[in-house]
Amino acid sequence: MSVSPAPIYLDNHATTRLDPRVLEAMLPWLTDHYGNAGSVTHDLGREARAAVDSAREAFAAAIGAAAREIVFTSGATESANLALLGLAARQTNTDRRGHVITIATEHHAVLDPLEHLERTGVAVTRLPVVGQHDGDGIPGRIRLADLEAAFTPDTWLVSVLLANNEIGVVQDVAAIAEQAHARGAVLHVDCAQAVGRMRVDVDALGADLASFSAHKFHGPKGSGALYVRRRGRAVRLEPLVHGGGQERGLRSGTLDVPAIVGLATAARLAVDGLADDVPSIRGLRDALWTRLVATVPGIAVNGPGLDATDARGAAVRLVNNLNVRIPGVDGQSLLAALSAAGLAASSGSACSAENPRPSHVLRELGLSDDEARASLRFGLSRFTTAAEIDVAADRVAAGVAELRGLCLRGGAG
Ligand SMILES: Cc1ncc(COP(=O)(O)O)c(C=O)c1O
Repeated sequence: MSVSPAPIYLDNHATTRLDPRVLEAMLPWLTDHYGNAGSVTHDLGREARAAVDSAREAFAAAIGAAAREIVFTSGATESANLALLGLAARQTNTDRRGHVITIATEHHAVLDPLEHLERTGVAVTRLPVVGQHDGDGIPGRIRLADLEAAFTPDTWLVSVLLANNEIGVVQDVAAIAEQAHARGAVLHVDCAQAVGRMRVDVDALGADLASFSAHKFHGPKGSGALYVRRRGRAVRLEPLVHGGGQERGLRSGTLDVPAIVGLATAARLAVDGLADDVPSIRGLRDALWTRLVATVPGIAVNGPGLDATDARGAAVRLVNNLNVRIPGVDGQSLLAALSAAGLAASSGSACSAENPRPSHVLRELGLSDDEARASLRFGLSRFTTAAEIDVAADRVAAGVAELRGLCLRGGAG
């Protein structure tokens, strides 16, 4: 297969470029140092074990956890499945399967395992979010009063996204945690989109379980972690994969040492770079919006305002996210034109890109099908440059003008 020249890449919610420093840290474990971290009878095994131990310490430190609270997985999908299904398997009341609360705009990595649980008899409440056109509240956030009203005596789990992968809205997870814990429920937080874009501290969030994915913060694909609280309110899970008993029996299978080293290195770089990356990525995202609003008539932001804050003064939108709707333009046609012009963006979740239905997130935000189909998502990273943003803005404006021109000519003919 031929490889085309590198495009301007503004699809960093789908995945991110591997940081060369991460690759460098991984390489020895892919080549000469190939031991099995479970082999304690020779140096190759023992050094692999030591690499995993220090990666566990480093990743735990990056998210404010203790090393013994980290389970390495293949990514956030597996982590969320282990969290939700592993906790469900621990529910002792077998005739009543209990009740779970989540948000209607979650990623499918959470929605689908919960749908699976629903088929086994668990009741699932999917909370609505504040709508784009509601006029009060923060679009995309839940109303805490809705959460309060949703609890039943049987609620054993609340699962929420820290930062949404489509519209970048950040939930008030600390307040959600307070309610969950007051009702005796466990809180799972999907942190996949947040690392490297905001501070993530499992204690500050009040998370009992939290899912992470390395490829969202310049680490390798197929590598992730599940945080499982063991300090204070310890959480117990049943494993989904049985075998050699690795990861304290929670996730059997030979450890992928290079992937684990890559995850930890990427997390450390993300945390160390946060003070510089956050303002610079936000500046570029805002510059993109300023250029687009000046050149694309009718364009509007989906989700909260770019600099919106909540009552506590906390930012409510990921700094690298811009999701816009462009009335009268078919998003898929625009994306195809942009791709041909060397600009990679998307219409929403990469996992559902093959699904022609409008994004469930935008529909839950109260957008019409037409508005959702006219929407585009841009995701920036620490590798995005000002020059790329200039070119990207020009290409979007040119693409929109071209498509609107076609519409007008089509309409006249
Ligand atoms: C919010 C969120 N959760 C979970 C996932 C799944 O992550 P992974 O690709 O590591 O399975 C993604 C990836 O798109 C995501 O954006």
